[in-house]
Amino acid sequence: MADMTWKKKRMNKKDYEEQLRRHEERLQTAASDPMRLKYHLQPPMGWLNDPNGLCQKDGVYHIYHQYVPFYPELCSVFWGHMTTKDFIRYDVHEPVIYPDTDRDANGAYSGSAFLKDGTMYVYYTGNVRHTDQDYDYITGGREQNTLLVTSEDGFHFSEKRLLMKNEDYPSDLSLHVRDPKVFCENGRYYMIQGARDLEDHGSILLFESGDLIHWTYRLRFCTKTPFGYMWECPNYLRVDDQQFLIACPQEIRQDGNVTVKENGCGYFPLKYDFEGPEYELGEYRTLDFGFDFYAPQVFQDEAGRWILLGWMSTPDADYDCEVTMKNGWVHAMTVPRELYVNEKGRLCQRPLKELERMRRGISSGPFEAGTGFRSEVPVCFELKADLNHASADSGRSFALRLRESAVLRYADGILSLDLTGCGAGRTVREVRLKEVRELQILSDTISLEIFVNGGEEVFTTRIFDSMEGLQAEFLSDGCGGRMELYELIC
Ligand code: FRU
Repeated sequence: MADMTWKKKRMNKKDYEEQLRRHEERLQTAASDPMRLKYHLQPPMGWLNDPNGLCQKDGVYHIYHQYVPFYPELCSVFWGHMTTKDFIRYDVHEPVIYPDTDRDANGAYSGSAFLKDGTMYVYYTGNVRHTDQDYDYITGGREQNTLLVTSEDGFHFSEKRLLMKNEDYPSDLSLHVRDPKVFCENGRYYMIQGARDLEDHGSILLFESGDLIHWTYRLRFCTKTPFGYMWECPNYLRVDDQQFLIACPQEIRQDGNVTVKENGCGYFPLKYDFEGPEYELGEYRTLDFGFDFYAPQVFQDEAGRWILLGWMSTPDADYDCEVTMKNGWVHAMTVPRELYVNEKGRLCQRPLKELERMRRGISSGPFEAGTGFRSEVPVCFELKADLNHASADSGRSFALRLRESAVLRYADGILSLDLTGCGAGRTVREVRLKEVRELQILSDTISLEIFVNGGEEVFTTRIFDSMEGLQAEFLSDGCGGRMELYELIC
């Protein structure tokens, strides 16, 4: 990744428009890239990262996101904007927040939207660096401002208002405090922010407000023993009356699980009444075991569904995350996923129902133990499989070859995804599982999203193969089942 830190320049709408004119050719190159995804959100050119400000207003879903349109030459961070009514067709609009004030000159960083009486309250972090001061970006030389803008239509925003600055956060914190997410509980408003303290321990800060403008610090959520040095992009949700915190702890090592991941993303079951200082954080669980998943944001839509969109990439990976940059663009969002809690109390993800409208039948039917099935598939496909007794106890295993050479294998109680040879440096990711009953797999030009057992475990990854003459082939070893295969057209 190019060093973005030094190129995060202040830019306003006029500067953006001028650069846009200069980058006309790059826009065309990006648009004609065969690797462009068909049903995932991606930037018209340049760089996209975290989803921000997700909400539904008057039937329209607004999807804002971290956007660096002129990456890698100019790394100014804007809030890009896309809308959809059906999660099939999307409109891309001009950015809504520019890094154009003293409070956010080096990046309009991540944040969230909260709707009240038809007004959209958008909170985000204004990133400012001071190279003239003693500067390490952790304890000095950095402002992390909590800013508010409001909007009546999601397109036009008010002046920026400063709500909190470095001095307003607890004094034992480093200058890493960011990514405000606002919600309502028991008629009071709450804001959580990701934080890193001076001892390099990550946590989530909780603030409270009666008017969405004035915020008071209440407490911090953290694990009993340190877990990651910084928790980015926190989310809070209450599904079926069960509370969860989602966070991206940086540099974690997970004991008791075969996967070790530098930058994690997972959730903690939470018990908290939003009254006193006492709370209970349950065991951390990884939300996605794939190579490309980070900084998800959740929101409740007008129908009450909890929807998640994630950034289909990850920071500081040791594999190639910028393959498409040669064609002028990089990164994408995951498909939208609905969250629910299963009978084990796990937070599960499944592709949003709307996506089923892209399905065109190809084949379906049972496959027998030992025989497997084989089918030529187009690059955009969905495969659903119900498996008979693939479990650690029964000893029945399977291997599923996907596309050219990706292999999803279940054996000895471990489900692994092997992308050696088609992953631009991605190799193998694994999760320990007692059984595999069900798979739902979505493939797009350069992505794979694999939902296991109703989305109790998920693997999201990018994949780089020829995108032609592909196969989905079950090499089942004693484990038959039933499958459905669809082409996805949008
Ligand atoms: C996560 C993150 C956030 C920050 C944003 C900057 O990917 O580092 O913590 O607000 O990206 O683009």
